[in-house]
Amino acid sequence: MNWTRHHILGLADWTTEEYDILMQTASSFREVLSRRTKKVPALQGQVVTNMFFEPSTRTRSSFELAAKRLSADILNFSPGSSSLTKGETILDTAKTYLAMGTDIIVVRHKQAGVPQMIAAEMDFLKTGVCVLNGGDGQHEHPSQGLLDLFTLCSSLDPDNPRIELLKGKKIAIVGDILHSRVARSNIWSLTKAGAQVYLAGPPTLVPQFFLHMVTELENDQLCLNWDIEPALIEADFVITLRLQQERMTDHLLPSLREYHQCYGITRDRLKLCKSQVKVLHPGPVNRGVEISSDLMEDQEFSLIQQQVTNGIAVRMALLYLIGTLNS
Ligand code: NCD
Repeated sequence: MNWTRHHILGLADWTTEEYDILMQTASSFREVLSRRTKKVPALQGQVVTNMFFEPSTRTRSSFELAAKRLSADILNFSPGSSSLTKGETILDTAKTYLAMGTDIIVVRHKQAGVPQMIAAEMDFLKTGVCVLNGGDGQHEHPSQGLLDLFTLCSSLDPDNPRIELLKGKKIAIVGDILHSRVARSNIWSLTKAGAQVYLAGPPTLVPQFFLHMVTELENDQLCLNWDIEPALIEADFVITLRLQQERMTDHLLPSLREYHQCYGITRDRLKLCKSQVKVLHPGPVNRGVEISSDLMEDQEFSLIQQQVTNGIAVRMALLYLIGTLNS
């Protein structure tokens, strides 16, 4: 199968073939990144523009480095120092970058739907510009979902990460699922892989409607628990999520201390899981809240640094696949 997807806006409609192409491509870029000269000429002469309307450390830097490793030119836009402060609209800003010869736009915005809106405008204008969603509101964060998938599959077979490896694996997603676009992208990819996904967290942050997010599921493929224990028992992987306090308009938690007591990932809690269990976190981490500080650094359990490292290869793969689609 060949790659046909022009924009990367979400994982809701991805096929298993697409996931596998992406992971094979990311695998070959991971090999490039292990060389002394970590660069290939694949996107030479193309322009990638990072339009991040929300704070970001890893996603933005990761896309920037990925574009550079592919020899593209990269423009970084920061809303605070841009003409947005003078009243320019988002679409006019995008068209300004279009007029400068941008080929790929990576968009992050606190409002769900902004990357889709820019993609629709680029298609309407027949520009050929590809749009990549770098995280939109509480909707999706596809590149994070893909790097998580790649990290999970690579931990099972480093030389040949592929989606079938996750079939039947038990994966707990713990924490602030309500506000998490990462969790939503994870749910799409992991259920497609045939994993058993257990959502766990306080009722205020894990609403029942998540159970109906994916239709056409096999029995018990998506479960929801307000206690952490059933989600952790015999789990192969635990993905813990940041408490997104900047998105909490009401008091959804008694206190951070109590949250840690009930839902924090600790060495003791991991004893409920399979002995080989691995822990992931998309970052940024509230140390000692979602996960105990010492566990974060423990190479035996934590895949958190590998997620960041893999993010570059995965984003190179995304930029490469969409950037060379029509060439
Ligand atoms: C996530 C995000 O921005 O959605 N972070 C990330 O991109 N690595 C998760 C978060 O902010 O908690």
